[in-house]
Amino acid sequence: MSSVPATTSHAGIDSVLNEDRVFPPPETFAKSAHIKSFDEYKRIYQQSIENPEQFWAGIASELKWIKPWSKVLEWNPPYARWFEGGQLNVAENCLDRQIALGRGDKVAIVWEGEPVKSDLSAGEVRKITYSQLADAVNRFANGLKAQGIRRGDRVTIYMPMVPEAVVAMLACARIGATHSVIFGGFASHAILDRVEDARSHYVITADGGNRRGSIVPLKANVDEALKQTSLVKKVIVLKHTGNEINMEAGRDIWWSDVIAGQSADCPPEPMESEDLLFILYTSGSTGKPKGIMHSTAGFLVGTYITTKYVFDLHEDDLYWCTADIGWITGHSYVVYGPLANGATVFMYEGAPNFPDFGRFWSMIQRHKITILYTAPTAIRAFMRAGREIPDKYDLSSLRLLGTVGEPINPEAWMWYQQVIGDGRCPIVDTWWQTETGAIMISPLPGAIATKPGTATLPFFGIEPAVVDRDGNELPTNKGGLLVVRKPWPSMLRGILNDPDRYVRQYWSEVKDCYFTGDGARRDNDGYFWLMGRVDDVINVAGHRLGTAEIESALVAHDAVAEAAVVPMPHEIKGTGIAAFVTLEAGRKPSEELKKELINWVGQQIGPIAKPDQIRFAEALPKTRSGKIMRRLLKELAHDGEVRGDITTLEDLNVLAKLRQQEE
Ligand code: PRX
Repeated sequence: MSSVPATTSHAGIDSVLNEDRVFPPPETFAKSAHIKSFDEYKRIYQQSIENPEQFWAGIASELKWIKPWSKVLEWNPPYARWFEGGQLNVAENCLDRQIALGRGDKVAIVWEGEPVKSDLSAGEVRKITYSQLADAVNRFANGLKAQGIRRGDRVTIYMPMVPEAVVAMLACARIGATHSVIFGGFASHAILDRVEDARSHYVITADGGNRRGSIVPLKANVDEALKQTSLVKKVIVLKHTGNEINMEAGRDIWWSDVIAGQSADCPPEPMESEDLLFILYTSGSTGKPKGIMHSTAGFLVGTYITTKYVFDLHEDDLYWCTADIGWITGHSYVVYGPLANGATVFMYEGAPNFPDFGRFWSMIQRHKITILYTAPTAIRAFMRAGREIPDKYDLSSLRLLGTVGEPINPEAWMWYQQVIGDGRCPIVDTWWQTETGAIMISPLPGAIATKPGTATLPFFGIEPAVVDRDGNELPTNKGGLLVVRKPWPSMLRGILNDPDRYVRQYWSEVKDCYFTGDGARRDNDGYFWLMGRVDDVINVAGHRLGTAEIESALVAHDAVAEAAVVPMPHEIKGTGIAAFVTLEAGRKPSEELKKELINWVGQQIGPIAKPDQIRFAEALPKTRSGKIMRRLLKELAHDGEVRGDITTLEDLNVLAKLRQQEE
């Protein structure tokens, strides 16, 4: 990695990362891509920005409408209404429309369970065609109605990664119920909070899920949560792991009994464009989860078209997004976007390292997966486990790789490109948020040259900018606030039960713009480099440093596997830099290594960015979606105490160990 020796101070965020490797789209890839050249991208982008309503209406008209819209956009800032007057059904678009297009016998879902056979060869595999999926959805939708669930009701889904989770979501969409999916890794109090906030009377769950060789007691977690509330009238339980569970008479009913005798014909409910499709809770910086609301038409339009172009989806692809359906990535890019395109979606139930770190690569080899979309945190874990593991597998079916969720450091990007992609596959680093619903900034793989560590350029119809607090656009290479200037169809419609927070958090920080909460800069080519959450910016002696860049420098050292950088109180500078570091397998923590790492960052970035403290850790506290919980580390670095909400923390032991180290 090349480096910039020093930084200059200004009103924005100092940028200290310099990366100049460029990877143009491979010629053969570009030839058969939907968008084949940079000129084509530029032309369509230009048109989409000059006339966004015309652009989005063109995309929307590719979908199946029950009644056409009368107005494309009604914009009363900060409230947008898209495709006003139109009616459609999302499940109809994902199922009936695909069957009508001739995809009835095409496989919609290839699923593999986590438990492996005794010879470790593979797990249970299920293949479900579009016709079979439509039947399952319709039967279950009729079953939901028979249980008293109506249009507009809120249904909580707390399921393992099994095809029935997709069936449950689509069945809700079919009858016009709003789903609220809770990630299966969350514990009972997270269920309670979310059921109460959504005032949800119905829960769909399973006896258990398989995760890293053990059973996650999903039903028991639901029981525990429901002890504290009388809101829930019915709990529908899928039998999956077969572990013993408690069934409460009158409240709990087996999935198989819900569908027994139900017809496979359930007419799609005509939904208004702006009707709620789902609520999804995301943790805010204060720790109180926010129920992000997404609409029917806008969400479908956004996920449909981004899936098609960003993943350059073709009829014979086997597409795998590794996210759990409990996250927005699972909603947009496991379920709605791919199915609206008639794709074959691969789904895996369990952990990436079960029974070992070869699991992903073994599944790619066996199923011939062509597109892999995963998170930088997973890539770094694979890097740490060593390239000899993926090297044992045939990954030649892959043609495109994607990442999402956090900035990907150039080292991990290069490893992904070379070790997994064999230097052949373009990488799409996709920037977006739960709130944006769909990908906002990303390379189009046949058209836009990539550079390791940047999400590159905006998607059609999206107008992001890097600005100061007054909304003035900053010059090239100056870090600032990432905003979006115009509304887009898949944007959030608000925060459930907290309309003020919607205005305050997203629409008040920078005048007339949607504020993302992220810091970014644009380089000479106009590419967007994400610098982490603005809350994570560290102000050291007047220099505002993005944590992502210091972390990236640390990870570039060959002893370091992962790093998280947070501010800490410092006697002289006011604020200093604390770095939590996990080491590569075989490397030992030592005082010498601490010094070496501090000097390394100094050489890579400049003296200003040198950490004041290095703390070695066995693991970093992360959310189950793989995001490092800097808020906790910040509290630890501050005074050794953690106060905030830790419901989204993946492994509580990590925190306990970090605390012990403190003592
Ligand atoms: O900080 C950005 C980071 O993840 C945030 C959104 O998180 P969430 O709502 O959980 O959605 C994750 C899946 C879309 C963003 O504000 N982020 C996401 N993708 C990237 C990223 N940061 C840098 N590069 C990305 N590609």
